Amino acid sequence: MNSTDITHTALSPSPSPSQPQGPSAPGPVAVVTGASRGLGLELARALAADGWQLVITARNPVELAAAEALLRPLTTVLALPGSVVDDDHRAELAGAADRLGGAALLVNNASTLTGYDLEGAAPPTLAGFPLPGLLETFEVNVLAPIALTQLLLPQLRMHGGSVINLSSDAAVEAYAGWGGYGASKAALDHASAVLALEEAQVRVWAVDPGDMRTRMHQEAFPGEDISDRPLPGTVVPAFRTLLRERPASGRYRAADLSAVPEAVAESVPEALPRTVPEAGSVIAAAASDGR
Ligand SMILES: NC(=O)c1ccc[n+]([C@@H]2O[C@H](COP(=O)([O-])OP(=O)(O)OC[C@H]3O[C@@H](n4cnc5c(N)ncnc54)[C@H](OP(=O)(O)O)[C@@H]3O)[C@@H](O)[C@H]2O)c1
Repeated sequence: MNSTDITHTALSPSPSPSQPQGPSAPGPVAVVTGASRGLGLELARALAADGWQLVITARNPVELAAAEALLRPLTTVLALPGSVVDDDHRAELAGAADRLGGAALLVNNASTLTGYDLEGAAPPTLAGFPLPGLLETFEVNVLAPIALTQLLLPQLRMHGGSVINLSSDAAVEAYAGWGGYGASKAALDHASAVLALEEAQVRVWAVDPGDMRTRMHQEAFPGEDISDRPLPGTVVPAFRTLLRERPASGRYRAADLSAVPEAVAESVPEALPRTVPEAGSVIAAAASDGR
């Protein structure tokens, strides 16, 4: 799928009562971390095509500027380079979203596999995992998403908004060499579930996108041919379903959400499923068990 094909209906949010309406009203505001490449860029492009205003971030300023150049013809975009682990940078992101009208969506997508450059080596087992890398992994994948959510919650509550936290099957399955990343994603899943209970005005979705052909995935399998993995744009329809249907907060697998091909979704919108699967996830189950 080419994400530039996404139609206006694709990622349109429910109208927010506090969002100015009308032909010239600015679109709702989404903050997307890690939007310079991979899934984050595909989601940003889809949101932009649907009229969302964007605040985007990533560390590499050159790659972020290239992403901004792609998005700018489509929407208002504020591209702020920096790391999500930086307190001042997160405050900058929240301030930018506020200036645009307040965030109605936060996509915590930025993530690290090991917290340091593997330089072609295989991800380490826990026995020898460098602790600074482990600390960075938890900072990027868990602490920063929670901290950015804290800053944006007043805006998200005001707009009846949503938080999407990118999860992984490594959060629920044990894979050798994925201990740090998997543990961090499990922690993010759990934080998502608790936040969902605490914040009734906001939807909180933890989403496992499935394997995707991205830089992170290549780093996880150094030297291996990953050309059989789907491109990140192929999971965008699942996120479209989430934002359109606004199901209950919970953990979702992209594979269980809309599998309707983009071309079909565009030509026969009535063929789209009107419901999404129950949040029959680890998170939902744990929450209902009271654990
Ligand atoms: N690819 C897969 O198979 C797969 C499977 C399951 C889940 N996921 C999840 O899907 C999400 C997207 O992954 P991807 O495969 O698209 O990764 P990717 O292509 O490596 O992109 C990661 C993005 O995050 C940014 N980033 C990394 N660390 C950051 C930091 N400290 N501060 C700000 N931005 C940062 C990167 O830019 P800079 O490096 O310039 O900062 C880049 O824009 C992640 O949450 C990942 O865990 C991926």
